[in-house]
Parts: sequence; structure tokens; C-alpha cells
Amino acid sequence: MEIRIVADEEQRGEVVADLVEQMLREAGSAPVTLGLATGSSPLPAYTELIRRHRENGLSFAPVNAVLLDEYVGLPAEHEQSYHRFIRDSFTAHIDIDDRAVLSPNGCAADPDAEALAYDRRIREGGGVDLQILGIGSNGHIAFNEPGSSLASRTRVVSLTRSTISDNARFFDSAQSVPQRAISQGLGTIGEARRIVLTASGEAKAEAIAQMAEGPVSARWPATTLQFHPDVTVVIDEAAASRLELDDYSRLHREPGTAGAGADHTAR
Ligand code: GLP
Repeated sequence: MEIRIVADEEQRGEVVADLVEQMLREAGSAPVTLGLATGSSPLPAYTELIRRHRENGLSFAPVNAVLLDEYVGLPAEHEQSYHRFIRDSFTAHIDIDDRAVLSPNGCAADPDAEALAYDRRIREGGGVDLQILGIGSNGHIAFNEPGSSLASRTRVVSLTRSTISDNARFFDSAQSVPQRAISQGLGTIGEARRIVLTASGEAKAEAIAQMAEGPVSARWPATTLQFHPDVTVVIDEAAASRLELDDYSRLHREPGTAGAGADHTAR
């Protein structure tokens, strides 16, 4: 796991956008699958990618996008559905065919069958080339709450009280937050070829420390990423504040000072 600590939100967006752009350039015109996360954490990266599309002509034409999760019971057009969120905040502003942006149908008559079919579609589509992730304050990724099997597949999950209260800010009240979601499983996410996880703020510091340095455990689902060979973590100082190992790359020193842009901490 490689940890990159950045100075501010702008740089956090740029570093994540660099990894997406690198993947797109490596793929050329070949089809490529980008895994997208919702939540506020990836927004600086989406803003930067939209800017690069508009100003530098970065093209997403060969991209298939797959979302991690969706609330059960929210119609696609609901303003807090992840279907809508990803369009409003990212994919409506770049050159990606709307039909190439895939998410679970939260209103499927049979959510369990929808979850199974979604998992199969990802696999049959050749899997995810680069997965963008956020992290919950309790260490969840997608909606894999503490206690999730590290081998879990896409399924219907119940949200914890802590996640409902974290996400209540997007709704009128905690009572309006759906209590279930269809979420890619930890096993599903772990099949992505590359992963970039991004977070900011003190509220994420414990989850980040556990993920990078703690014992692998269902108590902190993101610790499963320690098994993945290609994970980059892009965080600010506040989110990094509980890491105990002290030699992670800090990308925000002035050029010329010791360690500027150093990449000596890849593990
Ligand atoms: C939600 C999403 C996750 C996201 C997490 C953190 O629960 N299902 O994919 O990573 O919240 O959200 P935020 O980035 O807004 O803190």
C-alpha cells in the first residue's frame, strides 16, 4: 500500500486525477473500466478530471464506469440516489455515454437477484481496471460495514447507525436515510486491478490508521486492502494524523527540499 499525503483538497484531487489519467493514457482507445465511488471524498478528483476534459481534451470515450453501491428503495432520479449523484457531480460533465455508467438498481423488485446480477455483470465485463474508493469513519468501503466477510460479493446490506448518521447530512434527517443498500462486496472490490482510496479530515484518521497499519479484521473492513498488490492512498494531513509509521511520502514540500515528491515509501 502506498500512502501519499497531500497539502490540500486541490492537490488531493490532482493526485487522484493523475492516476485516472495515467490509466486512460495507457489504455489508449481500448475499452477500460473505471470504478467510481460516491460520497464527498472523490469530489476534488472528479472536479479536476472535468477540468482536464474541458481544458486539455482528456477523453473518457472508451470508459465504462461502474458504481460501488446504491441505496435500496431510492429511485434513480432521487437527488440522493448514487445513480443521480455520480451524474450530477461527474459523468454528465465528461464525454462518457450515459448508458456506460452502471449502478445497481435500488428499486429492483428482487434486490438480492439484482445484487447477484450486478456482480456477474462486472465480472463478465472483464472486471475493473481502476477503482476509486472513499472510506467511512467506521472503516467501511462501499457499504461494507464492520463485520462484512472479507470475501463478500455484491449483496444487500444493512447500514450501521454510524453510517446513517454520517450520511444524514445529505438527507433531510437521519430518518430519511435508507437503511439498506446494494453494495459490491469486499471480494468483488478486491478484484479491481488497481485501487486508489482517498479521504480527508480528522474523522477518517482512525479508519485510515487501521486500514494501513492495523491487523486485518472484519472490524475495519478497509483492512482487506492490505491483501491487494496495487493500492494507492491519497489523504490530507488530518486523515493521516493517526498513522504511526513516519516515513510516508509527503507531496507538498517545496521542490528542492528533502523528500519532495518522494516515492520511497511504496510498500
Ligand atoms: C458512503 C459510501 C462510500 C463512501 C463513504 C464515505 O457510505 N457508500 O462509498 O466512501 O460514504 O463518504 P464521504 O466521502 O462523503 O465521507
